[in-house]
Amino acid sequence: MNFDVDSIRNDFPILKQTTKSGKPLVYFDNAATAQKPQCVIDAIVKFYSEDNANIHRGVYELSDRTTTAYENARQVLKNFVKASDEYEAVFTSGATEALNIVAQCWGADNLKAGDEILLSEMEHHANIVPWQFIAKQTGAVVRAIKITPSGELDIDDFSTKLSEKTKIVSVAHASNVLGTINDIESIAKQAKSVGAKVSIDAAQSSPHMLEDLSSELYDFVSLSSHKCFAPTGSGVLYAKREILNSMRPWKFGGDMIENVAWAGTSFRSAPERFEAGTPNIESNIVFAQACKYLMSLDIEAVEKHEQELLALLSSQLSEIEGLRIFGTSKNKVSVVSFAVDGVHPNDISVMLNNYGIATRTGHHCAEPLMNTLGVSGTCRASLAFYNTIEEVEFFVKSLKRILNILR
Ligand code: ALA
Repeated sequence: MNFDVDSIRNDFPILKQTTKSGKPLVYFDNAATAQKPQCVIDAIVKFYSEDNANIHRGVYELSDRTTTAYENARQVLKNFVKASDEYEAVFTSGATEALNIVAQCWGADNLKAGDEILLSEMEHHANIVPWQFIAKQTGAVVRAIKITPSGELDIDDFSTKLSEKTKIVSVAHASNVLGTINDIESIAKQAKSVGAKVSIDAAQSSPHMLEDLSSELYDFVSLSSHKCFAPTGSGVLYAKREILNSMRPWKFGGDMIENVAWAGTSFRSAPERFEAGTPNIESNIVFAQACKYLMSLDIEAVEKHEQELLALLSSQLSEIEGLRIFGTSKNKVSVVSFAVDGVHPNDISVMLNNYGIATRTGHHCAEPLMNTLGVSGTCRASLAFYNTIEEVEFFVKSLKRILNILR
């Protein structure tokens, strides 16, 4: 089946705009945040025009309707990743908060001095700093699996570092810098062989619809709404119900309690246990709308299209003298980070903006990875299924012009 990118683009009104440069917007910063389809925008308007009320609290029609929509959204989000009944979906403010909950609420009671937390050199700060913090509190040690020159996890190094001391392995499914898709199933199997828990940062893989929790190898999976074509401010932590219910809550207030008395308080089970206070009701509900939109697409055609864009972009960039691509794994999402000899990546992104092209430059919240790569930052083009071959060609042509000026 052919992928009709023109019809897909019609779903995203923001893509129709002309930038101040007089050129059409070419949005290549999807790994930072993705654009929203009209059905998502409509769902936000509908929520505030027709349905807005607090959840789990009212006995009136509006509140009842919103509570039902909220709990249905939870179910849609479980369907999105094919999570089995064993899993619960906890609403969070994003993947960062989800990862913090795992580190704090699981780590506080399950880590002790000398235990090891195994991450990888390609992690985002959100999957490093929470672990450093809990390591400091418990005496556990953070270790990082090395990456190979092509930007893949070094499996030999993983095997060497994995031991009975490893209590949790927490890795990205896809790298926000290198684009590498990690073989999380094999990583999880190995981690399980030493009894370690497995946490997956799915923030960058979920927009490419790679998540599948049906194998039940994963104890925790974190993702963010805004990368998945939904509003900002929402995320999900998927985890096995049994594990969640053994974890301490992390924030305290309304809706997460069973009974409150001066003598003490008892807490509800998951997911409410981790959802104190009024949540981001609208964003959580609309997140499900974005997932429904994604699930309505032909996933294979989407993947084929994105891989065509990636192949074209990678091959054309690799022909440019002095340009180095970081992350050349065969198994990648459509993210290309690069640097050019003698040119500051920031200058490239600033000048690309003059052509209407949006890219990101810097360390991409992955400073340890930048150190491994031996650079202070990269320029990154991250593509979504609504990007086109013509946009990729225009990007490369514009980049060549820019480099002619800068070099
Ligand atoms: N983590 C996001 C990125 O990679 C913000 O750009």
